[in-house]
Amino acid sequence: MKWFLLLGAVLAVSAVDRAKFRRCIDTAFCRRHREDKSLTDYKIVSNSLKFNDTALHAILKNKENSLVLDIVALKDSTIRLVIDEFEGKEARVRTRWQPLDALAKAEPEQQKIKKSEVGKEESWFETEDGHKVVVQHKPFRVDLYAKGTLVTTINSRNWLRFEHFRKGKKTKDGDGFWEEKWGDHKDMKPHGSSSVSVDIALLGFKMAYGLPEHSETYALRSTNNYEPYRLYNLDVFEYEINNPMALYGSVPYLAATNPRRTLGVLWLNPSETWVDYDISRADLGVVGKLVETEDERADRIPQINTRFISETGLIDVFFFLGPKPHDLFRQYSKLTGVTPVPPQFSLGYHQCRWNYKDEKDVREVIAKFDENEIPMDVIWLDIEHTDEKRYFTWDKEKFPEPKQMVEDVAKKGRKMVLIVDPHIKKDKNYTIYKEARKKGFLVKELGGKKTFVGNCWPQDSVYIDFTNPEARKWWSEKFALDKYEGTTEDVHIWNDMNEPSVFNGPEITMPKDLVHYDDREHREVHNMYGFYQHEATHNGLIQRSERKLRPFVLTRAFFAGSQRTAAVWTGDNAATWEHLKASIPMLLTLSTAGIPFVGADVGGFFKDTDPELLVRWAQAGAFQPFFRAHAHTDTKRREPYLLDENFRAAYKKAIETRYKFLPYIYTIFYEHSKNGKPVMRPHWLELVEDEVGYDEDRQWLVGNAILVKPTLEAGETRTSVYLPGKREIWYEFDTGKARPSPGAMQIETPIDKIAVFQRGGTIIPIREMDGPRASLAETKADPVSLYIGLNNRGDSANGTIYLDDGETFAYEKGEFAFWGFTFKKEHDYLFTITSKNLDKKGKLESEILIDKIYLRGVKFYPQTAHIYLDDFVPEDLPFEHDRDSQQIVISNVGAYLTKEWKIDLHG
Ligand SMILES: *[C@@H]1O[C@H](CO)[C@@H](O)[C@H](O)[C@H]1NC(C)=O
Ligand SMILES: *[C@@H]1O[C@H](CO)[C@@H](O)[C@H](O)[C@H]1NC(C)=O
Ligand SMILES: *[C@@H]1O[C@H](CO)[C@@H](O)[C@H](O)[C@H]1NC(C)=O
Repeated sequence: MKWFLLLGAVLAVSAVDRAKFRRCIDTAFCRRHREDKSLTDYKIVSNSLKFNDTALHAILKNKENSLVLDIVALKDSTIRLVIDEFEGKEARVRTRWQPLDALAKAEPEQQKIKKSEVGKEESWFETEDGHKVVVQHKPFRVDLYAKGTLVTTINSRNWLRFEHFRKGKKTKDGDGFWEEKWGDHKDMKPHGSSSVSVDIALLGFKMAYGLPEHSETYALRSTNNYEPYRLYNLDVFEYEINNPMALYGSVPYLAATNPRRTLGVLWLNPSETWVDYDISRADLGVVGKLVETEDERADRIPQINTRFISETGLIDVFFFLGPKPHDLFRQYSKLTGVTPVPPQFSLGYHQCRWNYKDEKDVREVIAKFDENEIPMDVIWLDIEHTDEKRYFTWDKEKFPEPKQMVEDVAKKGRKMVLIVDPHIKKDKNYTIYKEARKKGFLVKELGGKKTFVGNCWPQDSVYIDFTNPEARKWWSEKFALDKYEGTTEDVHIWNDMNEPSVFNGPEITMPKDLVHYDDREHREVHNMYGFYQHEATHNGLIQRSERKLRPFVLTRAFFAGSQRTAAVWTGDNAATWEHLKASIPMLLTLSTAGIPFVGADVGGFFKDTDPELLVRWAQAGAFQPFFRAHAHTDTKRREPYLLDENFRAAYKKAIETRYKFLPYIYTIFYEHSKNGKPVMRPHWLELVEDEVGYDEDRQWLVGNAILVKPTLEAGETRTSVYLPGKREIWYEFDTGKARPSPGAMQIETPIDKIAVFQRGGTIIPIREMDGPRASLAETKADPVSLYIGLNNRGDSANGTIYLDDGETFAYEKGEFAFWGFTFKKEHDYLFTITSKNLDKKGKLESEILIDKIYLRGVKFYPQTAHIYLDDFVPEDLPFEHDRDSQQIVISNVGAYLTKEWKIDLHG
């Protein structure tokens, strides 16, 4: 097969080929903006500034340009600033494309302005929720005050730049305005360069996070004397770690925090974007005097300077004013959406490889998992399952009876995921190609007439134009069970290569001058190409069951808002300890930027892994939202059952641990769908008072209750952990031993152990399995135990559980249960544990019983324990109390999860 040759050639390169990818200085607009530090001196045109009941409107002007400015007050402490070309007397050459599909609602809800004033030198307004926007007229500058504190200033460096679309060349147009070369590729710009940039400073912050996707530290680093962070979705072969090079997806969003407040900035622009970032002091900027207080001099106030530079599009920036971390996540997710509760199987363990060769191979892998009693929910098929890379088809020799295979896989509740990429084999006999071409759904070459043909897995390939709504509709229909041969409702989909990857394109992607729907250039839509594909796939999977079953879609490329329709993985990593470490900040960054369902290939995609690394990676993956093992076709087989006994047992234990924690993880996904908080959390989200943990990169929180620190070094059997928070108590999960915070400690982590702690003051549900389970479907009736970690005073704790059928949308109609558990000290001799329905709209009555209750951090001496069930007649409960370790275990609780009950512990 031809592509093997191609692959062989590519594999000869051992690391990322940097020469393939542009740096800022290789990119005309970036170079121009970055190097030009001259002041642009925009000012508000006098008498142009007006208010309506929600927004400020004005015209900006400098020597060359006129622009229109809108600053809109949005609900929930959010401010939007939009700068566009001014229509003036002449009609604009072209409107700028707006990526409104990235937003949950194209028209975010506005809020009323409470007070406003048009002044001579500055004008201002105040929102109903108490924030103030001040616009300085000359030079133009915008200051945002969150409840009286200046938190951000826009254009304070006076660097606002905005290039107009033009009708024809002018001699003074600068370098790269009309065409630009990269390698053998020439990029034509028929409308001239239309790039934009502005500086945005964040006052009072010295740390910020976000701007995925890069393989970088969690806290953003200064880009002074280095490359800016680049956002341009690219298929980077063997990416390097600690590098701001662009990767597969982009979210132009960053969040900053200090102990008193948080701030988020979304630069809503899907064209190629570069972000400069550095950390400075307020006295060095122009607003120092405005932030200075009697208690704090400007030279003590940190300031983050950023500059966003985009190749085209609008300046459309959203500011989220917090102030608390959970406010910020709510505000950002209200704008760009949340991940709906995933189907439960997708939170189990996924086994993938390029490739499971044929039906026999699939059956053998499944049989081996069963034989070794290792749970596994999903087996994946990569590109080789198709008829020569024609997606939606099967290789008839290797997969003669795919439907039967899927049905057999599904017998124990397991699912399959098939790959469907956006490039389409150019083959007149291939229905998908024929239809797409006939309907005009393919991306065109410059000029808009000829279909673009690039090289990808099937050799000559065309690309579906997913920016066309009709093309998306058509694509969605392809997943219908009567159209997609060999599939059943147990098949879900993986969209790979959707940056999009074009092997012979500039930087392995599409030329920017290609033409999309509505005469848009590829450069205008690039970072949303993958977004549109996975959205259409998601919709297709929903439609095929007439909106009965929840879909699962995995994507490699993404943009802001991708969380609404797909899970994301970090692409083609490698089997090294460095890559295992790098996966943590990468996943935390995605989580911070609103995408919660994320994971990295367990084991590392490229290269052979060694068993120790594989097991350590599985332990980390067990506590990350998306848990999938994957491997390159050239690697040795590495399914867990192939390992030697001690490694096999450790890998199996990691997967079982995931299945035990699943009721808790599922609950966090549900809570995310309500409050926007991610599953995998940076320390500052929960423990904002503890600045030491702000840039923590090696450990993370799962929800609000669990702290995880994987072992990240070869040969290490003692792992150091930082216990965050001021005066928190953390309980080592396996032993229940209490540790105070803040503090660092060492914990023994032999090969079968990962360091996991439960935070004092929390209650979490854990599944008890009394034997092997093939998949999550087989755990449905298993009882749950409650782990109660008392707070540092030993007088309270609380937690929740969410339950539904795990697969349908019936939860939207009340088929769910959301219950809370509370431990409370009533008085010196009475402590209670109670359950309560937290959402009466949930009508689900579960058969699941509570088995045991573990209490940690018990400072009292219980004499008796009683439970009150429905009939209000107390029954004795057996319990064991260990005074030394301050733990109680109550067994045979026998209460239903979705019924009210109360336990009294008498001291
Ligand atoms: C006020 O202006 C904003 C921004 O241009 C616009 O979205 C909004 O619809 C306007 N409100 C009214 C009542 O016209
Ligand atoms: C297309 O299909 C026909 C009929 O099945 C076959 O004869 C022909 O070789 C095919 N062409 C290509 C390019 O595969
Ligand atoms: C749970 O406990 C925390 C910490 O004491 C408290 O802030 C929160 O309001 C409690 N939640 C419920 C539902 O009681």
